[in-house]
Amino acid sequence: MFICVCNAITERQVQGAVARGASTLADLQGELGVASCCGCCAETATEYLPGGRYAGQVTAPQTEGTRVSDAANDATAPLVEVLIRRA
Ligand code: FES
Repeated sequence: MFICVCNAITERQVQGAVARGASTLADLQGELGVASCCGCCAETATEYLPGGRYAGQVTAPQTEGTRVSDAANDATAPLVEVLIRRA
């Protein structure tokens, strides 16, 4: 699941940063770039920090072959094709 759509940052990346010691939104911004564009993800990202609603939760591993970061940047993804053709 994406936390930051602007920068294609996933929940797992945020959880990883927290596991490595990120404890503030500024830490997440510095390490991942989360909430560095529109800022809409700042509140959600903060919930993964210590004391937050999602703190300590671990997302189940993705199945083999699923690479979210690749899919987000794949210009040939079907939804992207539909949007381009409608433009
Ligand atoms: S959704 Fe994260 S900066 Fe826009």
